Amino acid sequence: MKRFVGTVAVVTGAGSGIGEQTAVRLAEEGAKLVLVGRTRSKLERVAALINHLTKETAAEVFQADVTDEEAVVELAQFVKNNYEQLDVVINNAGASGKSRILDLQTKEWERIQDTNAKSVFLVSKHLGQLLIRGGKDKDRTIVNVASLSGHKAGAMIPHYSSSKAAVINFTKALAVEMAPYGVRVNSVSPGFAETPLTEEGLKNRRFEESIVENTALRRVGKPEEIANVIVFAASKESSYMTGSDLLVDGGWMIT
Ligand code: NAI
Repeated sequence: MKRFVGTVAVVTGAGSGIGEQTAVRLAEEGAKLVLVGRTRSKLERVAALINHLTKETAAEVFQADVTDEEAVVELAQFVKNNYEQLDVVINNAGASGKSRILDLQTKEWERIQDTNAKSVFLVSKHLGQLLIRGGKDKDRTIVNVASLSGHKAGAMIPHYSSSKAAVINFTKALAVEMAPYGVRVNSVSPGFAETPLTEEGLKNRRFEESIVENTALRRVGKPEEIANVIVFAASKESSYMTGSDLLVDGGWMIT
């Protein structure tokens, strides 16, 4: 099924993990991609992979730190100048850290809030202007990547948990604001998936065992399994869904 033929999609944090898999899936289904992230070499590797798979130049790279408003304004200008339309925005860039609240440095609090929550606001604000130009008859969507931790605060990640709860609620506010323009906005909340973000933690056998024990499906997820749901939320198949959060946690919340 090629659900994204004739569409243009922007994916942030596209150089690895869930963002990479989402970009690949969107391109396989016909979308033109703008891959956004801070590290050009990571983005170029993913663009080369996509362009090889699709046998055309389906993916372009735009280097930007999505916590920096000027860089996000430049991204919007780049999309406006190079593409006739914008259909899909995937706010996937994110970062985590590990600390008790009583030891947490303010700078580290700000880094996590900025990367996970401020970035979603900035990209939605500036690329939202391009999405609303599409007219009401065409399905256009924003998908924000939140987290299981936005529903249930995790140990030692108070800054991460609170930033992801903000993403879930911001998604609902944005969905109300964008609905009159025909733009749907949803979030996807992954549980534990094997990506560079969780690589260090998963090296610890006891940590992995505790995830398996607490997950109904008894395993850690794969980034493709999260990407499949993000792509569903971005597609016409979810055309009557807006302001929703899709939990993809292998059954962590029910154990
Ligand atoms: P990842 O570390 O592979 O992906 C995050 C990407 O965002 C990286 O490529 C990173 O370079 C990029 N990024 C970080 N800060 C940025 C900035 N300021 N500007 C531009 N790009 C930036 O990890 P993963 O797991 O693929 O993460 C993707 C999203 O999924 C994140 O929002 C994360 O919080 C979320 N998530 C991941 C879970 C997991 O178990 N892997 C669980 C729950 C949520």
